[in-house]
Amino acid sequence: MTDKLIEKIIHKPINEQLAILANEFMGKIVFSTSFGQEDQVITDLIFKNNIDIKVFSLDTGRLFEETYKVLQRTRQKYEKPIQVYFPEHKQVEKLMTEKGPYSFYESVEDRKECCRIRKVVPLTKALAGMDCWITGLRAEQSEGRKDLPLITWDEHFKIYKFNPLKDWNLEQVIGYLKTNQVPYNPLHDKGFVSIGCSPCTRAIQPDEDIRRGRWWWEDNTKKECGLHEK
Ligand code: ADX
Ligand code: SF4
Repeated sequence: MTDKLIEKIIHKPINEQLAILANEFMGKIVFSTSFGQEDQVITDLIFKNNIDIKVFSLDTGRLFEETYKVLQRTRQKYEKPIQVYFPEHKQVEKLMTEKGPYSFYESVEDRKECCRIRKVVPLTKALAGMDCWITGLRAEQSEGRKDLPLITWDEHFKIYKFNPLKDWNLEQVIGYLKTNQVPYNPLHDKGFVSIGCSPCTRAIQPDEDIRRGRWWWEDNTKKECGLHEK
């Protein structure tokens, strides 16, 4: 099935790929946005072309103020729905009560616990009953993503996963946003390349790996939060 899907869309422009898959998975195809620069490209393509794909975001409760402003500007520009999922409040209450607001700095296990509560559980809810999940992942973002497929079967979430920007480089992403006047996070102009939650994201130096700014206190091999682990 994956090969057949790839055959249908390969070498087509992304807006056509999105439209073909929207038709193939009618009503059961979603795009997850963190309002990062890659995601803003895909959001623009979906909304501008009126493609029938539901757009959603996971509000971890710990996002940058700037990220919420991109959400607001995106709502205003396109006037299209963006579904927001929030963590289960009881799980957040328990975590904060028992471990405080910065448990993620204590150990990789504590960090993954927070990511699970604030991202993975809500993502599971967002993907329930869906057949295809679109992401803004790119192969050059990290060593672990270098073999990223265009379409793959995600065994954990039991869903087809489509990564339309897999072969794009950062310059192409930035160029698209500028040419098409797409709202983007001003933190990208301040050295923040990959943006997640505010206590877990920092700016990087030009010669640093793109993912260095995420969970920078951890060793490089452990840097996935559970959304995209194979
Ligand atoms: S992460 O796993 O390290 O957080 P990253 O920030 O690189 O992921 O983003 C990769 C893709 O994961 C995004 O393009 C988006 O599709 C999805 N994603 C990440 N964070 C969120 C979020 N908070 N809400 C919705 N989608 C997200
Ligand atoms: Fe928690 Fe940090 Fe993961 Fe956000 S990135 S969910 S604050 S550990």
